[in-house]
Amino acid sequence: MTRMGIPKRQAQGQAGTIGAAMTIERAAVQQTVIAVVEELLDAIDSEYEEAVSDATWLIADGGFSSIDFVQMTVMIEEQLGSKIGFQDMLMQQGQYVDDLTVGQVVDFTVDRLTHPQAAQAAAPVVAPAATPVDVTGPRVTEEDVAAFSRLIKPRRVLPATGAKNKRAVFILSPPRSGSTLLRVMLAGNPALFAPPELHLLSYATMNERREDLSNEHSEHLLDGTVRALMQTRGWTGDQARRFIADCEDSGMSTREFFGVIQAELGERLLVDKTPTYAFSEDILRQAEACFDDALYIHLTRHPCGMIRSYEESNLTRMMPLLMKNSEFSMSALAEMIWLVSNRNILSFGESVPAERWFSVSYEQVVSQPEPSMRRLCQFLDVDYHPDMINPYSDSKSRMTDGVDSASKMSGDLKFHLHSQIDPNAATRWQQFCSEDMLGAQTLDLVANLDSSPASVRL
Ligand code: A3P
Repeated sequence: MTRMGIPKRQAQGQAGTIGAAMTIERAAVQQTVIAVVEELLDAIDSEYEEAVSDATWLIADGGFSSIDFVQMTVMIEEQLGSKIGFQDMLMQQGQYVDDLTVGQVVDFTVDRLTHPQAAQAAAPVVAPAATPVDVTGPRVTEEDVAAFSRLIKPRRVLPATGAKNKRAVFILSPPRSGSTLLRVMLAGNPALFAPPELHLLSYATMNERREDLSNEHSEHLLDGTVRALMQTRGWTGDQARRFIADCEDSGMSTREFFGVIQAELGERLLVDKTPTYAFSEDILRQAEACFDDALYIHLTRHPCGMIRSYEESNLTRMMPLLMKNSEFSMSALAEMIWLVSNRNILSFGESVPAERWFSVSYEQVVSQPEPSMRRLCQFLDVDYHPDMINPYSDSKSRMTDGVDSASKMSGDLKFHLHSQIDPNAATRWQQFCSEDMLGAQTLDLVANLDSSPASVRL
């Protein structure tokens, strides 16, 4: 039985028994949805104090962001043990809905449980109606980029001494570049171990990392290491957290901690995808200093796709420092994150031998998954495995579940809104944005990428 009393088998539907014979109790579904919403309101420290009911608006009353919406759907699906296909509820005509009541979520869920075939057929993205593009705002200038760069906190990194850790693989990209999808695809290869974002390289010690990330906006970023240890050691979340707390208290360096994970992997290669590494070239250099012949995958995406994705995910809320100290619009911030991250990656790449560097674009990954993965496997010197292009199979071994039900998988929650690799996601931005909105320096970099293997055009 699931928590709210719908037997899992019934919730998932049985071929041939769906239809009039199947009755889903609305009250039971409502109980589950309300419990999930309450848990999330708590997690985001919402100021909403009334009892959650059908009439509660998730944004207007609860203060949800789009990422909380997605988190809610992941949790409801987990509770019910059933794929609901919530993308049809959240996205209409290619845009997020403005708001939803709890009652609407309950009704949608009941409808999908009653007609599970609709969930299977749910389109990942609905073709949007043509929307006029506003290209009248000010373009990002080089002065803006300099001001933005000053907001990025410098990092203290440990001088590298002693023998290096064994080889690891780093996926380098700005956020919202399809890095979660790529990580989960790599996690389908038995020769690789690709956990959620580790957030290790940016800090000298485990304790510094704890101090920096232990706050309401970034606490979930601590979970990638927890999830990795749960997987390698068969531990519960609590056991893994206790172990990590001991490492933090004892002053362990992040490099040693990488070694702790690597020691459990045998011949498997550790893959770390943490998009914030690209915020600073100093952080990227740590990979060369700490690992023997590390391999790098530069993942690119068209800036307009990244900007649109950033705006929709309301990532600024997760980066309060940038939000508080800047007067930039959200799209300008996203453009500068794209630009600064890619510049750092390319500049760092100049010091890395060509045979340890691989470039690929999100556009290539989603439009030609198998050839892209075959080329990547060649680069990583591992055999290709067909599970790589089936990223929604086996969520446990790919670590796409959270540490516990309310915890956010560090990475892209929108991954859960898709049910397969969706090639349309690469060009969806064209309905909303145009390159005319980009600053000159961003366009220059797009042109550079276009003449490289990581071209962001299809
Ligand atoms: P959009 O917001 O444009 O849809 P990251 O993991 O680096 O944050 O990247 C997030 C982007 O990857 C999102 O882009 C998300 O939809 C996309 N993505 C996640 N899973 C996907 C899938 N199965 N197919 C296509 N794109 C996917």
